[in-house]
Amino acid sequence: MSNGTSLNAIAKKLVASGKGILAADESEGTIAKRFALIGLPVTLESRRDYREMLFRSTEAMTKYISGVILIEETLEQKAKDGTPFYELLQAADVIPGIKVDRGAYPLPGTRDEKITEGLDGLHHRLEHYARNGAGFAKWRGVIAITNQAPTRNGIRANAHVLARYAAACQAAGIVPVVEPEVLADGEPGDHSIERCEEVTRETLDTVFSELRLAGVDLAGMLLKPNMVTAGVRARAKPSVAEVAERTVNTLRATVPAAVPGIAFLSGGQSDEEATAHLSAMNALGGLPWKLTFSYGRALQTAALLTWNGEEANVPAAQAAFTHRARMNALAALGEWRPDLDLAA
Ligand code: 13P
Repeated sequence: MSNGTSLNAIAKKLVASGKGILAADESEGTIAKRFALIGLPVTLESRRDYREMLFRSTEAMTKYISGVILIEETLEQKAKDGTPFYELLQAADVIPGIKVDRGAYPLPGTRDEKITEGLDGLHHRLEHYARNGAGFAKWRGVIAITNQAPTRNGIRANAHVLARYAAACQAAGIVPVVEPEVLADGEPGDHSIERCEEVTRETLDTVFSELRLAGVDLAGMLLKPNMVTAGVRARAKPSVAEVAERTVNTLRATVPAAVPGIAFLSGGQSDEEATAHLSAMNALGGLPWKLTFSYGRALQTAALLTWNGEEANVPAAQAAFTHRARMNALAALGEWRPDLDLAA
């Protein structure tokens, strides 16, 4: 199999019908924010125990999850019984992935804008991750909406590094998951859905133009975008149908059909909103790419709160995770209904 063929095969497997991606790649700072919800100290062991609870949710992993995004620590970490996490995932036929960016930092010359770092030495790291079982990688570019942002410069800079990252991944035989996130939960976070649509459209247009310039094989990548929504603190809250329609229209206008799939981030939406929006989009039908989930919070929050850092709660937490995974798997088929959620 040529590199291109195998990248396409991995990308397609990640967006297989009725499956999606679990984003479990919270950095140390982000997982600390999540653990603060349950008052749990962040240690190497607590991070391991929490992620082991998720990865050993056999029903969720084997039926509804195609891939898991890890951080470097987890890719190289072992479960309590000594089994490497990536082997645990591979045994469930789940593809291990890896977050390879090094975070977003203020972009000089702008106000409120950031640029993601991590290109230096990336090709060496990618070869190492590929040897350690990673089939795909993720890089997140952040686009904030404020009175002064985004600028054309901020969008272009982020699109350019996303394209360089994607090309480096493909050279290493790893599928890039390209994540330009137009923030819904930034500051002030009160923008309208129209403003989000305009910024998302410009961002995706610029990202695909840079991807083409960089020679990225569109059939061997996935896109991980935000949905088109109002900011989380906006006064007017659009309906599920409006979010679905505007998101699909924006994607149709910007994402080539050669891309096998689009796996959304949840970006601060509630669990049920993230599921309802995805299902409504898929119910529209006739889409040129698969649409599925690559959620962090919207897949994990219920499980985290149920777990509460206690071993005795592991089965209940796994049941909560499995339920959310099943709801989103139904949404990836356009078959979720609110009453199915209530029947949990
Ligand atoms: P959320 O679904 O919590 O937004 O996280 C997804 C992700 O991977 C952000 O980079």
